[in-house]
Amino acid sequence: MKNKVILTQTYLPEAMDRLRQGFELIVVEGSGKEPIEVLRDHPDARALISFLSDPVGADVIEAGSRLKIIANYAVGTNNIDVAHARRKGIYVTHTPDVLTDATADLTMALILAVARRIVEADNFLRSGNFTGWKAQLLLGKELRNRTLGIVGLGRIGLATALRARAFGMRVIYYDRRRHEDLEKKYGFEFFRFVDLVKTADVVSPHIPYSDDVHHLFDRDVLGLMKPDAIFVNVSRGPIMNEEDLAEHLEQKRLFGAGLDVYEFEPRVNVRLKRLDNVVLLPHIGSATDRSRLEMALMTVRSVEQALAGQRPDYLIPGWSDDSG
Ligand code: DGY
Repeated sequence: MKNKVILTQTYLPEAMDRLRQGFELIVVEGSGKEPIEVLRDHPDARALISFLSDPVGADVIEAGSRLKIIANYAVGTNNIDVAHARRKGIYVTHTPDVLTDATADLTMALILAVARRIVEADNFLRSGNFTGWKAQLLLGKELRNRTLGIVGLGRIGLATALRARAFGMRVIYYDRRRHEDLEKKYGFEFFRFVDLVKTADVVSPHIPYSDDVHHLFDRDVLGLMKPDAIFVNVSRGPIMNEEDLAEHLEQKRLFGAGLDVYEFEPRVNVRLKRLDNVVLLPHIGSATDRSRLEMALMTVRSVEQALAGQRPDYLIPGWSDDSG
């Protein structure tokens, strides 16, 4: 008998076909049920493949009493009660590296879109307002010689910083630890968090979500930013207070913002939606054909390894062997 694997939502056909070859695949999407109900219907399921939009709390984990692995189809795993999974001896894996370039590209796209008012300009033209070249039409900001402040110089933060260097930007960063090797190699400068926020022309956080960073970018921190600075967020929505951000943007206390993630996803703050100086994307940081395929295949590989009695390669950071 094949092991049962529960997949919460349909994803790449190549990955689903491979899962069907080795396992009995049960897809939650389209069943009219929640993942927890499907787990209760299949208490013998051995693996759960979850999306970042699926809350996998202690209740869901308890329902999957025979689970060996939860393979998250994302690099971030804040949708999962990882501590509970660890206590139950269930592996938790994610999809690092393969989405780094896609997400860093999107960060640059957002920075440029805000700085050069791309969406506003597109809307302007489509609304029939383009009547000829004008000296003062839609003036934006250049990136060269401006300062990018990266909060969290991990994989995606670094990839973004390197792209910014190619645009002639000075890169400053804050992280829990210094990266002296990268400072030497690329000229990045370490700043204290508050100093970074005050100094940067573009602030871009690249940090995983945890309670410690809830509303890190609130009224007080946003209030430290320069009035012509840009805030972009491709990491996780709850690191910012959307109401505070909307207020700052409404009052033009920032030049603009570019967001790919939201505090209450998929709901987007109505005040933000009314503003011209914000570019809003539907959480597409990793949405390239290559990245999404590799992410999907990583979840399959993780399930295959765990159910073959091996330690999966893509365990979340900090996993120790006595955890799973
Ligand atoms: C992730 O994988 O955590 C990203 O947010 C996907 O875009």
